[in-house]
Amino acid sequence: MRIVLLPGDGIGPEVVEQAVAVLRETAARSSRKIDFDEHAFGGAALDAEGVPFPPATREACLAADAVLLGAVGLPKYDKNPPALKPETGLLGLRKALEAFANLRPAVVHKPLVSASTLKAEVVEGTDILIIRELTGGIYFGTPRGFETDEQGRESAVNTMRYRVDEIERVTRVAFDCAMGRRKSVVSVDKANVLETSQLWRKTVEQVARDYPEVNLDHMYVDNCSMQLIAQPRRFDVVLTENLFGDILSDEAAMLTGSIGMLPSASIGNRVGIFEPVHGTAPDIAGKDIANPLATIASAAMLLRHAFGWEEEAQRVELAIASVLEAGFRTADIFRGDGKLVGTRAMGEAVLSAMRPGS
Ligand code: IPM
Ligand code: MN
Repeated sequence: MRIVLLPGDGIGPEVVEQAVAVLRETAARSSRKIDFDEHAFGGAALDAEGVPFPPATREACLAADAVLLGAVGLPKYDKNPPALKPETGLLGLRKALEAFANLRPAVVHKPLVSASTLKAEVVEGTDILIIRELTGGIYFGTPRGFETDEQGRESAVNTMRYRVDEIERVTRVAFDCAMGRRKSVVSVDKANVLETSQLWRKTVEQVARDYPEVNLDHMYVDNCSMQLIAQPRRFDVVLTENLFGDILSDEAAMLTGSIGMLPSASIGNRVGIFEPVHGTAPDIAGKDIANPLATIASAAMLLRHAFGWEEEAQRVELAIASVLEAGFRTADIFRGDGKLVGTRAMGEAVLSAMRPGS
């Protein structure tokens, strides 16, 4: 199995390094082979090659079995023209691999119940899978751009557009996931205002007919943002379009205590992308304090979804659970008790929890 590594910017390289160590341990323990192939991406690629998603990186990703990504973007690129922003590289990667279904599980680990800013009795037992449509909607719709009219007035435009088949395919992923979970899907839209949402709702209802065992509810996105923090346990699978999913998944992260805990898998076609939900955190980059668990958990999702190594995926997830149980905490989830550790020490703790006799 071949994994392309795209460490990217900020804390990306540090957290990817820890996830790679976990993947190497997994391969060694199961006497299977994983090859790693690192490529330039994001700001790192801009600096080295002048573009955020170089052709060689693209070719390597298309030929790989999976892509493990750190994070991209730094303030110094914020004023770049759109084509030369690290984020544009990320959108290009998602599009190139047609990774249309973005799975973002928000699971509250028992030992971290008190790490959330919300009350323990609210977050306890939360286990949500957000499924965000990732290659359509306002992120990609055209026309887009800046305009100036005859009177010299500036404006900007973005377009939210969805085709029925784009909605159908991500809806199937959501319902398939729900069948393996608590058989409940909440589809989130803004159908009281947006035509794209009305089409979304109609299409989701049609697909739902193929899944009579799954309970489907619709919720407006404003209400959903409220319900997520009011009663998070009521959600199982949350299905939504690209922009709503971007926002709601950050919100859901705070249920778990820190965005440093949230992994993701972007799947749908032959090659999936596995990356933490968090960004590059430039303020803490290079200081060995970032939480590597989101990336390590993304590596577990890679083992499951890209390789079909379910047992190995669970071994990694169990190791994460056990280090949290043992009290290891990076700064983002440290609330005064437990053992405050850095990025490397957290990675080491996961590795030793994976070893026999631990
Ligand atoms: C995410 C990020 C990206 C997104 C950015 C970096 C383009 O926020 O993966 O959630 O908006 O999709
Ligand atoms: Mn985001």
